[in-house]
Amino acid sequence: MKSQEIRETFLTFFKQKNHQIVPSAPMVIKNDPTLMFTNAGMNQFKDLFLGNSPIKDKRIADTQKCLRVSGKHNDLEEVGVDTYHHTMFEMLGNWSFGDYFKKEAIEWAWELLVDVYKIDKNRLYFTVFEGDEEDGTPEDTEAFEIWKAILEKNGLTTDKILKANKKDNFWEMGDTGPCGPCSEIHVDIRSEEEIAKIPGKTLVNNDHPQVIEIWNLVFMEFNRMADGKLKPLPAKHVDTGMGFERLAMVLQGKKSNYDTDVFSPLTSKISSITAVPYKNTLDATLKTDVAIRVIADHVRAVAFSIADGQLPSNNGAGYVIRRILRRAIRYAYSFLNQKEAFIHQLVEVLSEQMGKFFPELVEQKTLIIQVIKEEEESFLRTLEKGITKFEDYIQQAKSKTIDGKFAFELYDTFGFPIDLTQLMATENGFHIDMPSFTHELEQQKN
Ligand code: GLY
Repeated sequence: MKSQEIRETFLTFFKQKNHQIVPSAPMVIKNDPTLMFTNAGMNQFKDLFLGNSPIKDKRIADTQKCLRVSGKHNDLEEVGVDTYHHTMFEMLGNWSFGDYFKKEAIEWAWELLVDVYKIDKNRLYFTVFEGDEEDGTPEDTEAFEIWKAILEKNGLTTDKILKANKKDNFWEMGDTGPCGPCSEIHVDIRSEEEIAKIPGKTLVNNDHPQVIEIWNLVFMEFNRMADGKLKPLPAKHVDTGMGFERLAMVLQGKKSNYDTDVFSPLTSKISSITAVPYKNTLDATLKTDVAIRVIADHVRAVAFSIADGQLPSNNGAGYVIRRILRRAIRYAYSFLNQKEAFIHQLVEVLSEQMGKFFPELVEQKTLIIQVIKEEEESFLRTLEKGITKFEDYIQQAKSKTIDGKFAFELYDTFGFPIDLTQLMATENGFHIDMPSFTHELEQQKN
């Protein structure tokens, strides 16, 4: 099934269950001091959960552009190194605002995955919240019983239901805000031989690239207050989030999100421009593959941010975008031998691939290309000098600690975001003296 159809099928399914289909909110958030970017489908509905805004539609579904690069949900370090985390990704979601609750949310998730998308039920696992003493939240026996009934009806046992703790099964938007216990659906896409050797249930929530979470069903019941306490919400709600790119990997029978039709036009274009093949070995040490994945991922984050009105800049959300783009430029420079700007050329491919569903990409294409090209050219002017300086430094270093003053010089004079220097340090077995870097930064501000 092509990715366009996967998206449409999700939305049609929930439309038939009387959900109002709404467009994605912008990925860049302008009016919430607790959040720079949309990091989950529920962000735009925060005030509905909290009871601060009137509920118009009790059932909603959409696909939401999300960016997880800062704050509580930050996947940046994994991106490109693994095959299933992204900076920008689409989250398919359905919501109930004080309407249906656990039973329907769970039953519909099963129906869509097994009956509609035809995922092999034997490959699915389900987690439920085991409770938390500190928060005083009980074990979610209700979700357990609902899954149990479905499994038994389908000739399966409760072996497939796993209990998980607060870290994995209590979802929170940020340090404060709406939250609640959740039930995740994981899928095992390994080969039959591998499954015979190691049972999938032992790999759930263990960072295995082929035993992965695809859908999270959150049962919103609380508001986390600034003092850390939980306050019950005025009503109970459902908030679900399914990773579109991961779902595409499962439905297209691939072993990496980058091999789906969401990413393959980009990886092919990067390969053809740079003349470096994408070997697709899933090997995290193969730097050319990592670089191709990083660029394919990051260009999407940057292009969609610009389309949503956030240009790269030197502070706040703009600096996050600049950092992401500079990370991609540096990977291209170091591992694909790209000394000239080229990432902007990928925008054409991206807008062809995604522009039908996200017309802002087509409408803003000229601006996106121009901004990325200028950013690339400007950073490439100092990148080489900075890298040479960095290499000289580590060759002469007497310890494995990089002085904060030096990291600051790279930041201030050569435009190296600190996480880029951190990345280069880690690659070479070094680390940065961060207190001293922060001190330098503070000094500059004063
Ligand atoms: N709000 C559900 C999730 O992000 O997983």
